[in-house]
Amino acid sequence: MAFSPASRFPIHPPPQYAGSGVAVKRPREFACFSYDKDHVFHLDDSSLKWYYPPTLPADLSKGSDTFVKHDDSIDEHLDSLLATIQSYEQQKGEPIDAQVVTWRGMLTKIMAAPYDSDAFEMNATLYRGSIFIEENHAFKRQKQEMESNQPRRTGMPSSLMSFWGYKFETLSTLPRPWGETSREYIENRDREVVNNKEQYCSVVRTGFGNSIVCIGGEVDAIWDSKPENPGEPINWVELKTSAEICGPRDQVNFDRKLMKYWIQSFLLGVPKIIVGFRTQDGVLTRTEEFQTMNIPKEVQHRKLVNWDGNVCIKFTSLFLDWLRANITGEGVWRIRRAHRSNSIELFRVEEAGHGSIITDEFMNWRIKL
Ligand code: A3P
Ligand code: MG
Ligand code: MG
Repeated sequence: MAFSPASRFPIHPPPQYAGSGVAVKRPREFACFSYDKDHVFHLDDSSLKWYYPPTLPADLSKGSDTFVKHDDSIDEHLDSLLATIQSYEQQKGEPIDAQVVTWRGMLTKIMAAPYDSDAFEMNATLYRGSIFIEENHAFKRQKQEMESNQPRRTGMPSSLMSFWGYKFETLSTLPRPWGETSREYIENRDREVVNNKEQYCSVVRTGFGNSIVCIGGEVDAIWDSKPENPGEPINWVELKTSAEICGPRDQVNFDRKLMKYWIQSFLLGVPKIIVGFRTQDGVLTRTEEFQTMNIPKEVQHRKLVNWDGNVCIKFTSLFLDWLRANITGEGVWRIRRAHRSNSIELFRVEEAGHGSIITDEFMNWRIKL
């Protein structure tokens, strides 16, 4: 396969990304979808969960033997996001105005790049004025494989530690609002089967500088209820687990993690993050609430790590300008950042078509418009 010559977007030096002054829009949900317990797609909010504090302490490992785990070896591309956008466009009779369409996870990687050394690969294609970006699934699988073979600092199996995150979600949410939930259910949540096939996904319109972006991403729970008027802020809750902070070193690690939490929540407009702190061996001991908006200031105040949310925003905004200026033709493009690399590369991997990024259904629908 003949690859077109690469162009590069520099990640360092950060000074050029410093300072505020990039207009960002507040993300507004305009559509949503759910995966049910079998990971079957539904164009509704049926998998929405309500936050309700967990009973403490709790053993996060309990039920790991019955975990119903989603098989992530299958490449789902952008299929569900496109189906949701299509349904919205069918109601409106016109295409959405976003210049970039992607999963939240892709923009999380871009936003974190100035401070993170992680490698990533994405595929992008221009279709009817919008750039659609998916993860390069084969690369993700390879990376996961390599990471799972590396020895872990904690000595705990990575699969169990990953289960703890989902268990915390099950312990902290209700499938219906509190008023419609029996006391018995609340008290017996630790016996519920943990299932990560089920998800609620929010689809939002947001903006970075010159770019209007449509993002789809999973939301863990809602605090109260959705507002009456569409587009109004929603009291979403992001749930996270983390090891208890026992000293300055732990605080440094936690402040680094807070950057990812902040980015992830910022992108979908999630105002509150609830962290479940746990012991090294997975006993949930306490929870703490973080207001997403305040995280950058709180971290800067402690002066332990030096990430700046404005840099993440400005970097992303300039990156999207660059991407839109460079992806102008037919075909499929690769967006690649090698481990520790100080640039993001862009090169064409297919000269024509849209690879598997755009579904036939979506294409047939857009052709009619
Ligand atoms: P924690 O974040 O509490 O560890 P999310 O927080 O994004 O909603 O993800 C829910 C859970 O999925 C995580 O909980 C973690 O258990 C698991 N998870 C997410 N990304 C992961 C990854 N890259 N590797 C392993 N587990 C992951
Ligand atoms: Mg989640
Ligand atoms: Mg979560």
